[in-house]
Amino acid sequence: VTIISRALPAPVPTSEPADPRNNLVGLAKVMAEVDRSMPVHDLYDETGSELYDALGWQSYDTVTAVKLAVRTGGAILDLACGTGRIGLAVAQRGIEVVGVDLSTDMLDRFRARLATEPPSVAGLVELAEADMHSLDLGRRFRLAVLGATTIVLIDPAKRRAFFERVRSHLEPGGTFALDFHSLDLDAIRRCPRRTSVIEIPMHPAGAGYAVCCQEFDLATRREKVSFVVERVSVGGTLDRRIVTTTKAVLRRRDIERDLIEAGFDLLAQAPRRTPESFEWLIAEVAR
Ligand SMILES: C[S@@+](CC[C@H](N)C(=O)[O-])C[C@H]1O[C@@H](n2cnc3c(N)ncnc32)[C@H](O)[C@@H]1O
Repeated sequence: VTIISRALPAPVPTSEPADPRNNLVGLAKVMAEVDRSMPVHDLYDETGSELYDALGWQSYDTVTAVKLAVRTGGAILDLACGTGRIGLAVAQRGIEVVGVDLSTDMLDRFRARLATEPPSVAGLVELAEADMHSLDLGRRFRLAVLGATTIVLIDPAKRRAFFERVRSHLEPGGTFALDFHSLDLDAIRRCPRRTSVIEIPMHPAGAGYAVCCQEFDLATRREKVSFVVERVSVGGTLDRRIVTTTKAVLRRRDIERDLIEAGFDLLAQAPRRTPESFEWLIAEVAR
């Protein structure tokens, strides 16, 4: 168990409007100020979801979720299913999936993927546009999964209530699995701003990269992320845009406490670490 010795201030509830310009940091902020015509998108809107899909859709660990789904059997609840990375992998194993997401654009990409799958797979997936915070599907599942570290998008002040919503969608003894990324808070204190470059695979040909700018604020426990994205297609034009998002800075022990208070038993004492150094927390509805 990671022990983080220095206390953090209480989380600040997020009441910011969902304007992607609010998350401009670093180089992206400067560029957007210099060129006011530069498009700025949310990571989960029509344009941003294209970047989301291009950045490492393949490399993420779906194995843990699929293993759990095979063990529990369907239908499984894929919370914040996005463009379908986990839900599709589960359906391809012949297990029914109900995917929920707030973003029409992310769901549209999931639907487009399903359209290329055989009916025996596509027919196993049901999608709903809904806010996880107020989820009310009127049915119960043996397994709910919140993958791709999406717990960072839940307002920490509403996290326990969200976990209670999840529990109310699980059968007695049902399993809830979520993954998260342990951050090195001391390193963040030393260096709260980061810039890195990520190559974007382009299909069928071309070149693309994103400059990823991150800014952490431990007082509000928020991380703002801005990507300056540039892509050149062969024989085509240079395309430049900015895509942003914001995340909560989390500690495992706070998530674990909220899970327990919401009526879950933690199953994995030593969380399973994935190749991307995410960790899965696996909990069961308390009996
Ligand atoms: C990091 S992506 C994860 C997508 C997918 N699970 C995957 O593995 O790629 C986060 C997703 O959460 C969705 N989301 C954010 N807030 C949400 C909310 N309150 N209710 C439902 N979905 C939400 C976003 O639209 C986005 O698709």
